[in-house]
Amino acid sequence: MAKGKMTSIFFCQSCGYESAKWMGQCPGCKAWNTMVEETVDRSELKNSGGIMRRQREASEPCVLSEVTIREQDKVLTGIGELDRVLGGGIVQGSMTLVGGDPGIGKSTLLLQVCRAVAEGGHKVLYISGEESQVQIKMRADRLGSFGPNMLLLCETSLDAITETIKKVKPEIVVIDSIQTMYAESVSAAPGSVSQVREATAVLLQLAKGLLISVFIVGHVTKEGTVAGPRVLEHMVDTVLYFEGDRHASYRILRGVKNRFGSTNEIGVFEMRENGLMEVQNPSEYMLSGRPENASGSVVTCSMEGTRPLLIEIQGLVCHSNFGIPRRQTTGTDFNRVNLLMAVLEKRSGIQLSGCDAYVNITGGLKVMEPAIDLAIVLAIVSSFWNRALPSKLIAFGEVGLSGEVRAVSQAGQRVQEAEKLGFEICLLPKVNLSDCRPEQPGKGKIKVIGISTVQDALDYCRD
Ligand code: TYD
Ligand code: MG
Repeated sequence: MAKGKMTSIFFCQSCGYESAKWMGQCPGCKAWNTMVEETVDRSELKNSGGIMRRQREASEPCVLSEVTIREQDKVLTGIGELDRVLGGGIVQGSMTLVGGDPGIGKSTLLLQVCRAVAEGGHKVLYISGEESQVQIKMRADRLGSFGPNMLLLCETSLDAITETIKKVKPEIVVIDSIQTMYAESVSAAPGSVSQVREATAVLLQLAKGLLISVFIVGHVTKEGTVAGPRVLEHMVDTVLYFEGDRHASYRILRGVKNRFGSTNEIGVFEMRENGLMEVQNPSEYMLSGRPENASGSVVTCSMEGTRPLLIEIQGLVCHSNFGIPRRQTTGTDFNRVNLLMAVLEKRSGIQLSGCDAYVNITGGLKVMEPAIDLAIVLAIVSSFWNRALPSKLIAFGEVGLSGEVRAVSQAGQRVQEAEKLGFEICLLPKVNLSDCRPEQPGKGKIKVIGISTVQDALDYCRD
């Protein structure tokens, strides 16, 4: 292709903002040092955005109430945890972005999806721009045998990929990773904003036009967002993040955007020698290895999508050797913990200002739900008193600035989950008491105790 006049454009690598000159801070997303120079062909600029416009005939509007939904429009992957996160299977013609740190298991998960779907009689094309056929085969051998419906292509050129997809007509396509793909029509390097955007647009058109379900793998930046522009997240139907501690064996698949189901649904997996296994009872899994009778350890229940999940919160409070005490949190909001400590100090007279404090959600899970406030407060106080709370106790509730314990949603479900795992005492907001009486009083073994202030909870735990 004859190149026209080349121009430099600066793109923000995090939100895709374009500018003619370099800037230290992106005016779009206010991030620093994200503007990167890319050379673009002027003639391309005129066409940019034109990808979606190509080959379009005027289409007829239809009556909404007459559109029928057929169950076969969704393909079940057979991996229950994934199907739930996706909202009940893979929707035909949908585009799903799977993001996550390197080595977390994105390729493994997608290969397993391919295997399950191919076994169900669907034609699958796995396109890798990162690994060779032999490397993929070695990984695939660990996962099990693959049938004739599973096709493999090692390619990075989008034009070649488009050709192949049109020829092979698969039902499901996996692109491992979008950052390695390049379109010849764009002169910027693979992985740059313009390339990633173009590649996604081309694939999107293929997906919608040929009704192919496309999964794309996206790398994640240090800050934890998908590398490349934010626009990528707007273009696709579903965004899944694969997270978890690389050193621990379990992984969490979280839906952050889903046009076909609820978001914030999570799937829990464990990485084994032969691939990812579903974890059937995540609460039990999260609590395994919990110390017996240790001070500073409190169990709480957080709602992850539609599912209650029991988690352990650990607090450690000790005297500070420095003028400014050290505060650190893992897995929860730092500012929230500081606020809760201020509430404790002011409303319950617990002198924490001279203490270092560490709060940790075990298992590498990130929980931002305010319903875990009460458990954080109890974990801190338990460590401060150096006294273990009853090991069969669970607590949840949002804590307000005047030390009041406020209502949380789905209290009944949380209590049920705790009961199922053998907990005996549950401290919860008093206002929630009415939601969680078991149908037959006296049948449930768990004792629910309504708490209206933080002080109430502390009094209960002291006795
Ligand atoms: P991978 O899927 O390559 O990660 P990503 O595509 O997200 O970069 O995952 C690789 C990691 O998973 C690697 O550290 C090895 C581990 N693994 C297992 O523990 N068991 C297995 O069966 C497989 C295939 C990988
Ligand atoms: Mg990979």
